[in-house]
Amino acid sequence: MVLRSQIFSPRVFSVVTLAVFLKVVYCSTMTTVRITPTTDGPYEVDGEATIVAPDGTVIKETTKTYLCRCGASKSKPFCDGSHKRINWSEES
Ligand code: FES
Repeated sequence: MVLRSQIFSPRVFSVVTLAVFLKVVYCSTMTTVRITPTTDGPYEVDGEATIVAPDGTVIKETTKTYLCRCGASKSKPFCDGSHKRINWSEES
């Protein structure tokens, strides 16, 4: 059982204050990225995003880009419009 005097002790209060501060900092630096599969086309990435290679190398920092999901792009992971050339459909 926690006593009221323990909850408001300087030590507990400072830990709670730090936790709230970190939560506020975390939330204020958190960004939202929205990824939408377009109809018969690429993934639309909307928001601050960093695209990295499998080895962690940064390929692109962007606020909007399109990622291939048909597999035909010659500039993967980005869409180069090849999905239209091959008439790719998400149904196929
Ligand atoms: S989705 Fe556009 S090239 Fe693959």
